[in-house]
Amino acid sequence: MAQLPEIMHRAFFRTVSLLSPRGQGEVLRRYFDWWHRSPDPWRLGTDGYERHKYEATLGQVPARAYRRILEVGCSEGVFTGLLASAHPQADIMAIDISHRALLRARDRTRGAAARTALVQADLVTLATGRDFDLVFCAETLYYVGRPDRLRRASERLTGVLAPGGVLVMVHPWPEAERLHRFVEDDGAMSRIAHHVHDTSPRPFSVAVYQHHPGAAA
Ligand SMILES: C[S@@+](CC[C@H](N)C(=O)[O-])C[C@H]1O[C@@H](n2cnc3c(N)ncnc32)[C@H](O)[C@@H]1O
Repeated sequence: MAQLPEIMHRAFFRTVSLLSPRGQGEVLRRYFDWWHRSPDPWRLGTDGYERHKYEATLGQVPARAYRRILEVGCSEGVFTGLLASAHPQADIMAIDISHRALLRARDRTRGAAARTALVQADLVTLATGRDFDLVFCAETLYYVGRPDRLRRASERLTGVLAPGGVLVMVHPWPEAERLHRFVEDDGAMSRIAHHVHDTSPRPFSVAVYQHHPGAAA
């Protein structure tokens, strides 16, 4: 059962999502710039649980030579750096709504900079075509709020996939069932792997979906 801080956290972001998409994006940008006022606020670079989650995530990715990879909500680029090492042939675009987070991500991914573009963008209003054959979205969808925004964000995640592309989503379990439901119900997507890691006090789910090569855009 969800704890009170988590219930209040989700209620706060649902309230923000009563604004227009543009207004919501502006509040979130300010909020996450403030949240990143000191380095690595979630200890993504040092916490063993986060490292375990990253390894579990990379371990679920179907082995292929990916050409273009998108990471949504990259924060300070910890996972981005691992991605660049795991897929040295790929061009990576990592987006975050926080400019301050991206400045630190730039430092962290400097070695891979030639292939890694760090872009300030809001998932909810993200405007790119079907350019990516691998997309990651971890620990981000609970910020988008109301179901209509979650639907919109989910449509952006599936809408940037090239035909046959793979989408990997990682969120707390069992909340992931709610957060992933629009992708789950998308007729153009098939779930090809799903692993619930429930041995820690903070269980999480890694869900992998593939866009049907023949599905209409
Ligand atoms: C909890 S961190 C997760 C970082 C990383 N994905 C991971 O799992 O280690 C969430 C990140 O999502 C970003 N974020 C939140 N809402 C966003 C949105 N609508 N569009 C893009 N980034 C967003 C925040 O700025 C923050 O850096």
